[in-house]
Amino acid sequence: MSTSKNILVLPGDGIGTEVMSVAVEAMQAVARDEGVTLDLEEGLVGGVAIDATGSALPKETLERAKAADAVLLGGVGGPKWDHLPMSERPERGLLGLRSGLELFANLRPAMLFAPLADASSLKPELVSDLDILILRELTGGIYFGEPRGVHVENNERVGVNTYIYREHEIERIARVAFQLAEKRNGRVCSVDKANVLEVTQLWRDVVTALHAAEFSHIELSHMYVDNAGMQLVRAPKQFDVVVTGNMFGDILSDVAAMLTGSLGMLPSASLAASGKGMFEPVHGTAPDIAGQDKANPLATILSVAMAFRYSLEAPRCADRLEAAVARVLAQGYRTADIAGSGDGVTLVGTKAMGAAVLAALEESR
Ligand code: IPM
Ligand code: MG
Repeated sequence: MSTSKNILVLPGDGIGTEVMSVAVEAMQAVARDEGVTLDLEEGLVGGVAIDATGSALPKETLERAKAADAVLLGGVGGPKWDHLPMSERPERGLLGLRSGLELFANLRPAMLFAPLADASSLKPELVSDLDILILRELTGGIYFGEPRGVHVENNERVGVNTYIYREHEIERIARVAFQLAEKRNGRVCSVDKANVLEVTQLWRDVVTALHAAEFSHIELSHMYVDNAGMQLVRAPKQFDVVVTGNMFGDILSDVAAMLTGSLGMLPSASLAASGKGMFEPVHGTAPDIAGQDKANPLATILSVAMAFRYSLEAPRCADRLEAAVARVLAQGYRTADIAGSGDGVTLVGTKAMGAAVLAALEESR
């Protein structure tokens, strides 16, 4: 396997640049070890792209992203661009990449690394060994539905967004959920609001029909989104794969993240039908700590691991990066967001955490 893999790196804004430079070093180190040849290029998206080109997603970035085997993204957005109209904001760059690359399946695993049980907002026994996967539909639903906008009607402003799903969009994400469950613990919980919203009654019907036709060996349950939010903080270990639409998935994945102690730990993969994907930490750009060497790079490093696993056909690189992250946590290295108050903890910054991961990789050669 000596063909080179083409990676587009989009550090983006805020802490994105810091966590990405550390993650790229770890990526190159493990690829070198395992004989995987990477061809890395950097591009612009988000606020930095607005500053340089006037657009949050320059055409060139989208074209290069389409040509790449995998895209790594740091994060986009910040107060500097918050005054811009919605259609020109950095976030549009992210949404444009998701839809332009047809990344309909967003995998957001929430796993608790044992040494961080104290950092969770829940009691340790509720989260020990937690390993759940939120699968969020990413290119449809209310995020993209038309019509949308704010207009004037009878002398007052009216805001409109459209919550829409087509059968094929529901079926393809449900299929991914069942396939992922086959490789995990065999359970899927589909989250909707079928008691109120017709679009999610359709969601429930389509998921149920696909299950009966092709995946009856998987255990399927349905839950209303309000209850799902409650169950996630009451008894999160009841879940294996949670599949839901774009907006509910946005919300529930932040909730799930907190169970693991910090948003700073959670990676994500956004995949197209072709297997090509974009990989990014779930956390944002944290403008309050940007440029201070404080950000936790582990979510980005774990996102790189997902890139190796899902798009680059290099599972050993993925395993080794994940093991290196587990190792540095066991050694007591902590960035401020996961510091807690335990004994034997060494508080480190972004770069030192990156160096610890490189050392752990070295050790595992
Ligand atoms: C996420 C983020 C984005 C979203 C924002 C930045 C547009 O919250 O990836 O969860 O809402 O999808
Ligand atoms: Mg979000």
